[in-house]
Amino acid sequence: MMDAIPHIVPERQVEPPAIEISHLQKAFGSKVVLSDFNLTINNGETVVVMGKSGIGKTILIKCIIGLIKPDGGKMLVFGKDISKLDHRELDDLRMRIGFVFQSSALYDSMTVRENLEFPLRRDRRKRITENIDDLVREALRNVGLENAIDLMPSELSGGMRKRIGIARGLILKPEIVLYDEPTTGLDPITSEEITQLILSLQQKYKTTSIIITHDVDLAREAANRIVFLAKGVAYVQGTYDELIHNEDPEIKHFFKR
Ligand SMILES: Nc1ncnc2c1ncn2[C@@H]1O[C@H](COP(=O)(O)OP(=O)(O)OP(=O)(O)O)[C@@H](O)[C@H]1O
Ligand SMILES: [Mg+2]
Repeated sequence: MMDAIPHIVPERQVEPPAIEISHLQKAFGSKVVLSDFNLTINNGETVVVMGKSGIGKTILIKCIIGLIKPDGGKMLVFGKDISKLDHRELDDLRMRIGFVFQSSALYDSMTVRENLEFPLRRDRRKRITENIDDLVREALRNVGLENAIDLMPSELSGGMRKRIGIARGLILKPEIVLYDEPTTGLDPITSEEITQLILSLQQKYKTTSIIITHDVDLAREAANRIVFLAKGVAYVQGTYDELIHNEDPEIKHFFKR
């Protein structure tokens, strides 16, 4: 009799979603910002987060990179529970996530070049094999500001600051990019330019993105899905077309033009 041939089923390597947020809670004193926030973001997806000012959008993305510690709930990034990571692991994870801050957050005493070099010099894994100068120039080329390399932040316009903030957020070629209000405070033409820039960089680097914005045009052009944050939860989710037809007064008001 022949020996039975063991039937080996290769273990399927299923990639976890880029981000899985479950039952996230965060309060400041008696002020509850997030009460039970749930959201899964798949690899390659662009999710736009909208919601009233002060509702908790920035807090939400700061929880994702561990800048703010939630009071409860679970946050998995690339399948890893970030509350269980030690300093080094968290640092490694942050290298895979680009953060474009609401205020651009450039260091005023540093030139554009030094601002862009900053995240590169911080890379403790030393995985940067490319020449730092080349990376800085590529990042500036990406945002159309090669000539600004030696300027100080005070010499930049609002739109230029946003571009440099984007260049810095993407300089380590992160898999996930978190944009906090990338077009807020800009005129409509510059906003549209920044929108196109974000779209072209997503194409180029195939990133997973979260974009916080009040900019309905940016949401329409960039979002695979929109999440409306209200009352501490993901109040409504859907495509742009679903949201503009939503009858909830809060949402109607938001999309009113
Ligand atoms: N460090 C802090 N200490 C106390 N309260 C805070 C702190 N950080 C944020 N908050 C409060 O948490 C709430 C949510 O803040 P958050 O910055 O997330 O709002 P947001 O939705 O990003 O608003 P905006 O659209 O104006 O940027 C606000 O009421 C804010 O005052
Ligand atoms: Mg904010």
